[in-house]
Amino acid sequence: MTTTAPAATAQATDTFPLKGTDHLEFYVGNAKQSALYYQAALGFEWVAYAGPETGVRDRVSYVLQQDKIRIVLTSSLLPDTEISRHVALHGDGVKVLALWVDDAESAYYTALERGAESAFAPFKRSDEQGEVVMSAIKTYGDTIHTFVERTNYTGAFLPGFQPRKSVYPVKSVGLKYVDHCVGNVELGGMDKWVKFYQDVMGFKLLITFDDNDISTEYTALMSKVVSNGNGYVKFPINEPAKGLKKSQIEEYLDFYRSAGVQHIAVATDDILATVSQMRANGVDFLYVPENYYEDVPERVGAIEENLEDLKRQNILIDRDEDGYLLQIFTKPIQDRPTVFFEIIQRRGARSFGKGNFKALFEAIEREQELRGTL
Ligand code: FE2
Repeated sequence: MTTTAPAATAQATDTFPLKGTDHLEFYVGNAKQSALYYQAALGFEWVAYAGPETGVRDRVSYVLQQDKIRIVLTSSLLPDTEISRHVALHGDGVKVLALWVDDAESAYYTALERGAESAFAPFKRSDEQGEVVMSAIKTYGDTIHTFVERTNYTGAFLPGFQPRKSVYPVKSVGLKYVDHCVGNVELGGMDKWVKFYQDVMGFKLLITFDDNDISTEYTALMSKVVSNGNGYVKFPINEPAKGLKKSQIEEYLDFYRSAGVQHIAVATDDILATVSQMRANGVDFLYVPENYYEDVPERVGAIEENLEDLKRQNILIDRDEDGYLLQIFTKPIQDRPTVFFEIIQRRGARSFGKGNFKALFEAIEREQELRGTL
């Protein structure tokens, strides 16, 4: 009895049911070449494709998958389209954070009633593998949330996409699912977007970090984390705070030219294996100096991993009341210092690595200094 009661309550109070993340779509300058990076460096399999060969005239989309993570890379084939304008303004970046729902029509109309702006109205697409209903609302910057209802669909991705197989010999690096997606918004925008997720999508505020939590000698930021009813979808929202020099959030906003997705955290069951494979594949990570590890035993206590192994791979460790977590951040994955990935392994901990913020931001500042943007 006691085990069923909380679940029933959670369901009753979830006013915007989401089943999880469906996919992330990047608009990029050269999807063909980016797709090879996702395969060779990040261990994703190529699973589906749409483009001129499949009857799509204005764009190409490559769908890459690793376990539950689906990434779509889309490029425009024409000079003046929404996609090419997006890439010209923002550089490569995340356009769509797509969410898996049972009913894309009701999600859309509920969101609009609660104050969301439409990106596109519900429409149905079908092929021999079934049908999918999609709709979308706008969020921060030019980013949108697409609602995907794929209850009866058995195809590779969406109707209109053809299945593909990697020609490159892909080796998974052990990435499992999207843990959280972080947005950077303008000064003063954080509370507005937190309220948006609360009012429109029934998210709950999980954690607040102010500039006392997240500051170094030079830069500061504030962050609030919101989470949906079942806890599968978590969106931290960052805004810059005043520091002596330009914060990493301001640098992002300058280069991305608007609010947008800062990082995508993907989970692994074995971060040591994942990171060493990614390094061998040529992925570069943020570096923390050796002295970061000096107070780890004291701060974190007993952990299952060998500290020397973690140090060799430059993996960060933090503990909260539920357990501990291991995490590491890639450098930006395109030329502009904008989007990057976080690799995270949770050993009970449900937080986001607050104890690492200072070391992490000092690492980012060293990179900013090299770029002359600090
Ligand atoms: Fe994160």
